[in-house]
Amino acid sequence: MVQPVHVAIFASGRGSNAEALIRFSQRPEALYRVVLIVSNNSTAGVRYVAQQHGIPFVHLSSVTHPDPEAYVAALRTTLHQYAVELIALAGYLKKVPPAIVQEYRGRILNIHPALLPKFGGEGMYGIHVHEAVLRSGEPYTGVSVHLVEEEYDTGPVLAQLRIPVAPATTAEELAARVLPYEHELYPLVLNQCARVLRRC
Ligand code: GRF
Repeated sequence: MVQPVHVAIFASGRGSNAEALIRFSQRPEALYRVVLIVSNNSTAGVRYVAQQHGIPFVHLSSVTHPDPEAYVAALRTTLHQYAVELIALAGYLKKVPPAIVQEYRGRILNIHPALLPKFGGEGMYGIHVHEAVLRSGEPYTGVSVHLVEEEYDTGPVLAQLRIPVAPATTAEELAARVLPYEHELYPLVLNQCARVLRRC
C-alpha cells in the first residue's frame, strides 16, 4: 500500500478550491492526503472548510509573527511538523517566502483563473484577472496550474484548460464560469504530482 503524499494547502479566502482538493483526496484513486491548511487570514472561509473536514488550520501572518524571520521559521517548522511533501496554493494572496520556495522547489503548485503567462503577476488576483480578460477582448480564458517560483505566476505551467469567455459579459460571470473548471483540474494535477513523487 502506497503511503499518501502529505499536502498542505495555503489559502486566504473562501476555500472552494481547498474543498475540491480535500474531496478528491477522499476518493480511492487519491494518492495524497491534505494534512494541513495554512492561512494568513484567521477569519477566512477556508478555516471552516478545514474545521468541517477535521484538518488542522494554522494561522500564520505578520499579525502572528511581526518579525519576518520568525514568520518564515514558524512556517517551516509547521510544514516539517506535518511532514509536508507538496504544497498547493489555493487563493493564497501572500507571497511564499523565498526560503520556502527554495526548500520545496518543484513541489509548490498554484491555480490561476486565466491562461498564463497572460493575465498573471502582481495584482492579478481574484476579480482583477477576469476584468483584465474581458478588457482584452480575447475570446478564450481558462485555468492554469503551475509550479511556484519566487515571483508571482512565473513558474512552469503544468496544465491548462481553455474556456470560451462567451456568454459571460461581466467579471463576476466569468469568475463563476471558470471556477468549476478549477475544481476539476486542480485535484487531477495535484494527484499526478503525488504519483510522480511516489513513482507509482
Ligand atoms: C480562485 O479563483 C483561484 O484560481 C485563485 O483564487 C481563487 C480562490 O478561490 N487563485 P477559492 O478560495 O478557492 O474559492
